Amino acid sequence: MQNMKLTPPDIVAMKGDEKITMLTAYDAAFGRMLESAGVDMLLVGDSLGMVVLGYDSTVPVTMAEMIHHASAVRRGAPNTLLIGDMPFLSYQVSNANAIANAGRFFKEAGCDAVKLEGGFEVCGVTRAIVDAGMPVVGHIGLTPQTAGKLGGLKVQGKDADSARRLLREAKGLEEAGAFCLVLECIPDGVAQYITDAISIPTIGIGGGVHCDGQVLVTHDLLGMFEKFIPSFVKQYASLAPDIKNAVADFNKDVKDGVFPDATYSFSLKLDPEEIFKE
Ligand code: KIV
Repeated sequence: MQNMKLTPPDIVAMKGDEKITMLTAYDAAFGRMLESAGVDMLLVGDSLGMVVLGYDSTVPVTMAEMIHHASAVRRGAPNTLLIGDMPFLSYQVSNANAIANAGRFFKEAGCDAVKLEGGFEVCGVTRAIVDAGMPVVGHIGLTPQTAGKLGGLKVQGKDADSARRLLREAKGLEEAGAFCLVLECIPDGVAQYITDAISIPTIGIGGGVHCDGQVLVTHDLLGMFEKFIPSFVKQYASLAPDIKNAVADFNKDVKDGVFPDATYSFSLKLDPEEIFKE
């Protein structure tokens, strides 16, 4: 039986009832596997830039790259709520430009929602995109696109002022119409307080167990991204070593002339001498 695609109101209704799962996907193959594993929502994160495209940060990621990959995920996972992550400077220039870029995720890639990083500074544009008919996911705490401004990839909300600011931002984004909120790298007690204070679900990544749901970068969860492993990541597999070992075995088998043997070859029923004689 096919999964029933959840809608943003379904996700909101899950708050307090059932934990919500979200994972990143960047291509059709992973979209297919994650959908069949029953993940509630897929995010085509701009982590694409670092995990798949080899950039050093998410800043260089373009709309064209995001649309290209989001369309592929949609083809692999037609029955899962799909969120497109708006890349840096695709929503800051003007509300009109942000609506047009958000619209591309829906019209060209078949997404069901978009995600924007930021607090007070994106409440207005969040409202504008929601009013244009497109569901929005907020994202506060550590916001990688503007990590420089936050002093690097650091835990946010550790002191009273910044924790209170996060709470006000969460309420502001709820008020602006976001249907759920990613809380990245904030102390679990702060995430719990925010989760209890708003009516939309919180999705933690380094936000502790009290969030309404959890998101991870799939390549981190599977042990496929070895450049760095954030301390909040639980690795459920170590695929990078497995992939390297499998490829080294293939390499050796070919060099040694033992692959392909008869099992992996097509045998000829006719006599080659007969076929090729002049
Ligand atoms: O880009 C991304 O993968 C994200 C998640 C880490 C939430 O924004």
